[in-house]
Amino acid sequence: MPHIVGNRIFLREYLMTDVEALYQWRTQDDIVWWTGSYLWPESLEQARFFVENQVKDSDPCNRKFAICKKKDGKYLGHIGYEHLDLRRQNTELGIVIGDLGSLSQGLGEEAIGLFLKVCFEELNLHRVGLRVLRSNERGMRCYEKCGFKKEGALRDWHFSRGKWHDLLLMGLVRNEYSG
Ligand SMILES: CC(C)(COP(=O)(O)OP(=O)(O)OC[C@H]1O[C@@H](n2cnc3c(N)ncnc32)[C@H](O)[C@@H]1OP(=O)(O)O)[C@@H](O)C(=O)NCCC(=O)NCCS
Repeated sequence: MPHIVGNRIFLREYLMTDVEALYQWRTQDDIVWWTGSYLWPESLEQARFFVENQVKDSDPCNRKFAICKKKDGKYLGHIGYEHLDLRRQNTELGIVIGDLGSLSQGLGEEAIGLFLKVCFEELNLHRVGLRVLRSNERGMRCYEKCGFKKEGALRDWHFSRGKWHDLLLMGLVRNEYSG
């Protein structure tokens, strides 16, 4: 499969050489807290296990692709689908830009644009959804720029740092996708 190429980034398959870079952000509170999955510190072995599963395509319905800088090929994070459901023509988007210096520069928007193009124009999906903590204002802003709409919330879904956080559900359906 050729790489999916944008203006400043491209998406490629995971490689075993990405383990260290993945480990860097998966152990960084400033990144991982926003995903709502942070609980315990993670080992390099766990990062290797994750990458290995991507390389082997162990679960084709849950697949992540490396986001890399076009200029120098640097690994920045990943984007991909969770629970790809071809019967219902939908999936959920998951994305992390793990490089702190690369946040809020429109790279998330660009990666999502590339990802949505594949979802709607190749896989013929009807809907792409996502879940984001309501406190993740940067994430919500990025998703709204990409056309996602707020659909509802699971109240008090996540307990962290001494308080409960809502989980916002967002979605984009085919007739809202502008390409
Ligand atoms: C969420 C994420 C993928 C978005 O990618 P990104 O490249 O940072 O996003 P973009 O630059 O395209 O858009 C972010 C927008 O939020 C704005 N923003 C940044 N901080 C903000 C804040 N505290 N409140 C409101 N808006 C904010 C930016 O200015 C930008 O808007 P603009 O283009 O109108 O100026 C990325 O920030 C990330 O991976 N964060 C850490 C992990 C995470 O949150 N993952 C997603 C879990 S659902």
